[in-house]
Amino acid sequence: MLRSPRSHPTLARMSTVTTIDRLSEQNEQDVTLQGWVYNSRASGKIAFIILRDGTGMCQCVIEKNEQTEPFFGDVKRLPQETAVEVTGAVNKEERSVGGYELRVTGLKIVHAAGDYPITPKPHGVEFLMKHRHLWFRSKRPWHILRIRSTIIDQIRRFYNDRGYVLIDTPIFAPAAGEGAQTLFQVDYFGDPVYLAQTGQLYLEAACMAHRKVYCFGPTFRAEKSKTRRHLTEFWMVEPEIAFASLTDVMDVAEEFICSIAQRVLADHRDELIELGRNVEEIEAIQKPFHRMTYTEAADFLKGPKVKEYLERDLADKTARVAELDATIAELEETAGKQGVKQWQKDKAAAEAIDAREERSDLSEQITNIPHHVKLAADFQWGSDLGGSDETILSRMHDRPVFITHYPKACKAFYMREDRSDDRVVECFDLLASQGFGEIIGGSAREEDYDRLLARMKHEKLPVSEYEWYLDLRRYGSVPHGGFGLGVERTVAWICGLKHIRETIPYPRMMGKFYP
Ligand code: 4AD
Repeated sequence: MLRSPRSHPTLARMSTVTTIDRLSEQNEQDVTLQGWVYNSRASGKIAFIILRDGTGMCQCVIEKNEQTEPFFGDVKRLPQETAVEVTGAVNKEERSVGGYELRVTGLKIVHAAGDYPITPKPHGVEFLMKHRHLWFRSKRPWHILRIRSTIIDQIRRFYNDRGYVLIDTPIFAPAAGEGAQTLFQVDYFGDPVYLAQTGQLYLEAACMAHRKVYCFGPTFRAEKSKTRRHLTEFWMVEPEIAFASLTDVMDVAEEFICSIAQRVLADHRDELIELGRNVEEIEAIQKPFHRMTYTEAADFLKGPKVKEYLERDLADKTARVAELDATIAELEETAGKQGVKQWQKDKAAAEAIDAREERSDLSEQITNIPHHVKLAADFQWGSDLGGSDETILSRMHDRPVFITHYPKACKAFYMREDRSDDRVVECFDLLASQGFGEIIGGSAREEDYDRLLARMKHEKLPVSEYEWYLDLRRYGSVPHGGFGLGVERTVAWICGLKHIRETIPYPRMMGKFYP
């Protein structure tokens, strides 16, 4: 066991403490890095530490000589995630991770880690999710959560730069904002209240005071099914604009999404590539987005193009599964072969896990395709678009697509009735491209008192709880509208993640709330 903390006399020579993201400004200078051992290896008279310090990764090279003699032995046995301070000269080295390495002259162990559960060997998602508090330190979550942070920054900038006023809406709400079936009830000093499903109703009041407003906060829905698109706690940004039509609101949504894509490309292009995201698909997020009505979408789903597309998809996926079977067999052979170096075995085992995961996803999709073909062909006007319909529509368009004017029965009570066709409401869902499905829901709001009240009664809402909301239609009611964007679905789309659970630091889903 290594002693901790432990200093070496070589550190007595003071050098500037810096961070890995700043090494390019300090080439050939002596610096100290503070971080954690991601990986280390030694052979003969040379040892390497891959250090991570929260800002990046850096290879630290330790040659055995008089200066490094006092700690060279320790380096060979450094446990993963040991906290260290390393001193040395910065050296530009393009082949090295991050482009700079450190030629080490001094090392201080701040804390020697115990056996770290997340080894470089592959682990299943269940295991990693249980160790979410430690998994943060691995490369993939590190990239994803940095991109999430940028997306959130861009969300705030977009609205702040355009004169929207931030209105913080309450989390304890007396009544439903969206459907009653996803309410989380809480005991509020003996009275039932609900965790906010949306801030929208409160924002509608605020936009009559400030004209353009937004709220941004955690949102709660008791989603009782486990899907790759649903969390029970997620973050939503909602703008609301007075004197705005449905088209005005959709134009804002379009501009907003383009600004997020451009910002992430500007700040995280390399990280997107590292995550395996096709950057060209993000570059393609440009105005104008496709716009189709629900009725057009319904006809499209039932038409020949969708059937042809799904049949081709089935053939492609079946071929890919055969290819993966061959790859998995090869990798398994390498991983078990005698005489193959350990790191090669580990690499093969890790690749085999990825291949098996892809294969299992594809097999599931292959089983579902005939069902999706049938669902699309049998689609009835009046029913809501299902997950598979959204996926089809979103995969068959090269950029996001707005679906507008849904039947009234599919949508919330506050949506504005279309004055030229009272079967539908003036609303939209924005479907992200590449099959990621809905990321935004929005609408024009019903500004007419009588129509709104009739709709509320029809939906059997407790009208007395909404008196304050009806007031907005009594005193200077104007056309207005807005939308809500789910942060996690946006992060999943931009990063190209199959499952929403990786997009939020601590995901909350049915049956999952640890750590
Ligand atoms: O379409 P939704 O339900 O719209 C509203 O809540 C409106 N009140 C918004 C508004 O007009 N101000 O939800 C908006 C978005 C969805 O498009 C999706 O991105 C996200 O919120 N969302 C979820 N994300 C993760 N898990 C869930 N369970 C989600 N439910 C909705």
